[in-house]
Amino acid sequence: MKTAIIGTGYVGLTTGVALAFLGHEVTCLDVDSAKIDQLNSGECPIYEPHLTALMLQAKPNLKFTTRADVALEKAEVIFIAVGTPSLPDGSPNLSYLKSAAQSIGVHIESSYVVIVNKSTVPIGSGNWVESLVRDAYRAHHKESHTQFVVASNPEFLREGSALADMLFADRVVVGADEPKAIEVMRKLYQPLIEQTFEAPSFLPRPENFRAVHFLSSDLQSAELIKYAANAFLALKISFINEIAELAEKVGADIHSVSRGIGLDSRIGNRFLQAGIGWGGSCFAKDTSALISTGKEYGLPMAITQAARDVNARQRTRMIEILMSELKILKGRKIGILGLAFKPFTDDLRDAPAFEIAQTLVERGAKVVGFDPIAMDRAKKEWGGLDIEYAAHPESVFDEADAVLLITEWPEFKELAFQSLSQKMKNRLVVDGRGLFDSKNFRLAGIKLITLGRSNS
Ligand code: UGA
Repeated sequence: MKTAIIGTGYVGLTTGVALAFLGHEVTCLDVDSAKIDQLNSGECPIYEPHLTALMLQAKPNLKFTTRADVALEKAEVIFIAVGTPSLPDGSPNLSYLKSAAQSIGVHIESSYVVIVNKSTVPIGSGNWVESLVRDAYRAHHKESHTQFVVASNPEFLREGSALADMLFADRVVVGADEPKAIEVMRKLYQPLIEQTFEAPSFLPRPENFRAVHFLSSDLQSAELIKYAANAFLALKISFINEIAELAEKVGADIHSVSRGIGLDSRIGNRFLQAGIGWGGSCFAKDTSALISTGKEYGLPMAITQAARDVNARQRTRMIEILMSELKILKGRKIGILGLAFKPFTDDLRDAPAFEIAQTLVERGAKVVGFDPIAMDRAKKEWGGLDIEYAAHPESVFDEADAVLLITEWPEFKELAFQSLSQKMKNRLVVDGRGLFDSKNFRLAGIKLITLGRSNS
């Protein structure tokens, strides 16, 4: 099918590449010409495992352009995947969504077009997009020869595993108030739903994975499914973090507790990894938007708010632990392992490392950070933050009064702690992700404090 994608961020680019790989004719549109030039030369503007390789494989079906007419005129399905960042009051900034909708209205020409909201948009945005498209269409077309329908198709991919999440999804959700639009979307996703495509060698199909559940609903329900899913995942993490603090007090080990409750199939074992909590572009933004929608309807979203409060506390706890161990932060040297909000991404949005480093610097400490892939981006995006960047993970231990593990890159587990301990001024490591094995630290003579464990 002829498909256009507006916005080449994480969601837009992954969707475009995956649909082209599945055999559709995809044109990705973005206003950022530098990004489009980069994509046209085969380079990927974001770090996401396997995306460049899949882009290469899908190349015959994939175009990148800054010209809205080229992308939209012949399209039968148009995805809107533009950013919806939070405004200072917590509600999402919908200006990119608005201009995408207006541009669609100006350029669409096919007889039947499904316009798909892929961006996470507030409930009711489908209707709003429809009215924007209609107004722009009427203003630019003398006669009406296009029928268009707005659908919602929320995205559930995670950064760092975006392609596997997309190709081997738990479900595809499509909301629209017209059955024909649902059928067009089902047809678009058919190879994915029925898993008829040959999986790329670098992304093998999980064993016994045979089909993807296709769920259709009305427009509003699909919009709410996205927010409810992210809020639920966020509160699952905050719940285990609240229990983790209690575990520390009563002498329990949160990792055993997570396993113990996760084996209950009603609870499930995923997203129960305790630590410094969630960061990234989605959970903070979407929980805040959900609360702001609740407010519009006079509904206090108490559970979602509590999840946010507990999450904010996790970052403060790292500082509290350091203060309790070191007493004075002024003049101390603190190493930080991991800067991005999670491993296998260089995305620094709402990364806990930033807030923690900033607080330490404000309190007079010297901070040295390391990340396997996010350092170049940190140097650019965190220009105002006065920290040093180490060339190797080992260097953050040099003369350190403490080292904090913020992002659980597996390679950090393999560091030679025995020899690194010799380089530390004070042998203290705080593990914010439950990555390290306490035995290695005992042998190295380093005091290890792990969130959620009663540390001795
Ligand atoms: C999240 C959702 O998982 C996706 O389903 C959704 O599509 C996406 O937001 C979105 O709305 O775009 P993402 O933010 O990329 O995906 O990454 P996650 O793997 O969900 O991790 C989010 C944060 O939670 C990370 O900081 C991670 O370290 C933290 N986390 C995750 C925990 O602290 N504990 C866990 O058990 C799991």
